[in-house]
Amino acid sequence: MSFFENYEPAKADPIFGLNAILKADPRPEKIDLLIGYYKDEKGHVPIFNAVSEAQKILFSKTKDLNYLPIDGSHSFVSELKSLIFDPIYDDFIYGAQTVGGTSALHHLGKMVTLKKGQSIAIPDPTWANHHQIFSYLSLNIETYPYYDKKSHKLLFNEFLSFLNTLSAGDVLLLHASCHNPSGLDFTNEQWRQIAQIAQQKKLLPFFDCAYQGFGDGLKEDVQSIKIFCEEVDEFMLAYSCSKNFGLYGERTGACFFYSKDKKIKDILASTLKQSIRATYSNPPRNGALIVSEILKSDKLTQDWKEELLSYKKRMQEYRQRIHHTLEKLTGKDFSYVSQGKGLFVFTGLSDSQVMALQKNEAIYLSSDGRMNITGLNHENFDTVMEAISGYL
Ligand SMILES: Cc1ncc(COP(=O)(O)O)c(C=O)c1O
Repeated sequence: MSFFENYEPAKADPIFGLNAILKADPRPEKIDLLIGYYKDEKGHVPIFNAVSEAQKILFSKTKDLNYLPIDGSHSFVSELKSLIFDPIYDDFIYGAQTVGGTSALHHLGKMVTLKKGQSIAIPDPTWANHHQIFSYLSLNIETYPYYDKKSHKLLFNEFLSFLNTLSAGDVLLLHASCHNPSGLDFTNEQWRQIAQIAQQKKLLPFFDCAYQGFGDGLKEDVQSIKIFCEEVDEFMLAYSCSKNFGLYGERTGACFFYSKDKKIKDILASTLKQSIRATYSNPPRNGALIVSEILKSDKLTQDWKEELLSYKKRMQEYRQRIHHTLEKLTGKDFSYVSQGKGLFVFTGLSDSQVMALQKNEAIYLSSDGRMNITGLNHENFDTVMEAISGYL
């Protein structure tokens, strides 16, 4: 008899599980609008020139492949910190390298669980893995109203009413920009109002920042974080370099604590290091050293920024095209698509409509109707728009 005899199989991951079905689909015309990676016109997931250059430099100067410290490359963390935060807050911030944004979310979530019976409030809808990460940590998950799938509007007033139900010590997960999956973010005025309520009620804000540079720009996409630095005493931030440096498989990210209380900041730093040591001991080298090499060099940084800007422009162009094409095909208002930011658009398709698209047209979206717009290109654009508009 096996030790594991009574174990139940776990459910397939909602996105990677579907991706396995997509990969196995033999139809040559299949169209992938599923996983959140940036794809170019040719359907490739490109490598930034600056990343290739940094890799060459690293290759020529690497003398050993020794362990990094438990909290990773300090040069990486410090360069990344300057990309996100104003230097005037340096003394309030502790950062550690993590294995992508996912492990940053995991470790910060773990810090929350050290207080018994904690819950965390996450947006409805949100990135599907937030549910998995926090329920795996046995946190009680509450969802707050964020986006209305029918009207395609942010539910700001409903969110404010929800905030009023929270009490001191409650944890609030917020997408810093390019909300996944809706693509719609709070305005700066709304962020300030949220920050002031969080401070007044002594909530613990917890940012997830996975798309810096994919929305309005590198500075603009962390404006929410800047506002919180100005308004609150403490918050946490999980950061992913997967998309904006194209380092998906290199598993590169970081987590940050912002606390005006140095003692608290130091306690958290030691607790976090213990949590990392007990899981993967220390993070991988390559991705973090690449990012650090880019951000240390004016030339590579310039190169990286220009390429990132071209990604942003391509996404904005496609948003315009989707908006106007769907409007023409359906006679309905799709202005929300142009107003959104980042990789994703919510089509409003139901789970069964997504399945029908997959079965009949070999077009793959995630089951909640989320579409990665960079999977579109000049060749497949009309096919996808016509197929989708048939259901809208
Ligand atoms: C909102 C959000 N947070 C975090 C992540 C995690 O990214 P990583 O691949 O770096 O773990 C993603 C990835 O898709 C994401 O969309």
